[in-house]
Amino acid sequence: MENLDWKNLGFGYADTNCNVRCYYRDGKWGELEVSESNEITMHMAATCLHYGQEAFEGLKAYRGKDGKIRVFRIEENARRMQASARGILMPELPVEKFKEAVFKAIKLNQEYVPPFGSGATLYIRPLLIGVGPQIGVKPATEYLFVVFVMPVGPYFKEGFKPTDYVIYREYDRAAPLGTGTIKVGGNYAASLKAGVRAHNEGYSAVLYLDAREKKYLDECGPANFFGIKGNSYVTPKSESILPSITNKSLRQLAQDMGMTVEERRIPVEELADFSEAGACGTAAVISPVRSVYDADKDIRYTYGDEPGEVSQKLYNKLINIQCGCENDPYGWVSIVE
Ligand code: PLP
Ligand code: COI
Repeated sequence: MENLDWKNLGFGYADTNCNVRCYYRDGKWGELEVSESNEITMHMAATCLHYGQEAFEGLKAYRGKDGKIRVFRIEENARRMQASARGILMPELPVEKFKEAVFKAIKLNQEYVPPFGSGATLYIRPLLIGVGPQIGVKPATEYLFVVFVMPVGPYFKEGFKPTDYVIYREYDRAAPLGTGTIKVGGNYAASLKAGVRAHNEGYSAVLYLDAREKKYLDECGPANFFGIKGNSYVTPKSESILPSITNKSLRQLAQDMGMTVEERRIPVEELADFSEAGACGTAAVISPVRSVYDADKDIRYTYGDEPGEVSQKLYNKLINIQCGCENDPYGWVSIVE
């Protein structure tokens, strides 16, 4: 892949050598299969097409200075996919099978893992869908799990540069007792309208408020949110946000840096009290927030044109652990052999 322009990659789909698949039929998971096709054939009455029986994951593989390939907290992604499956009545894929499929997909595409220092990574997209037909609203009896990979650059094209976010009260991405805490396609469908409007108006993403009261911060379209207040790392507690593995890791790293971690409801007006703010996730890593514009109240909260000191420290620590440049005291990283 010597001719790939690693430094200028965006976050987009790219074909690689192959993907790994596994079918669930007759009440059990089959063997892993390798496919060179980027297409899936399925029944036109498949439940993923009609009733949203679809869940996905996102994780990354990192090339270290030592040339080795590492993945970050893969078991957390495997377990979150199980939680998503339980949430919309799909069969759970065993953690070991998830890991085996992800490792296989990476190994078979290892020349697509970007070189150390390029700023790019290999994004891994596991997908679980109901492929059996139903026309009554019922779960399918057949499912397909697929893992495909692609080299990517930063999710927000600015990378680790502060960008602008917006609050609109007229959209929700998930309901409090709905599917916001699991990673199912419907949440993203629900976020498209607000997300595209935000982009058209010059924002990186929407910062959602809680759907029940519109009083508290929830999360960004594709990432969790955090603010820095004095010596505290403050992040929303909510019944409708995805439990981000990046955020969970940052909470640990903030604590290790001697900070207080507050996971609680955050009234929207508290945006005025933060010295720094960020969006965090696998794709977003840490994307510093330059401003949040509350479009309904016409208030702009600003955090500066450069990443803040705490965000910078957290970012460095996280990416150094991910690529194997720093000690991994919690065993978050697995080497792909
Ligand atoms: N919130 C949403 C809605 C997401 O789609 C993601 C991405 O996976 C995240 C948060 C961040 O989660 P993680 O850090 O596990 O990637
Ligand atoms: C991720 O960070 O892995 C995501 O899934 C976010 C987005 C691409 C949907």
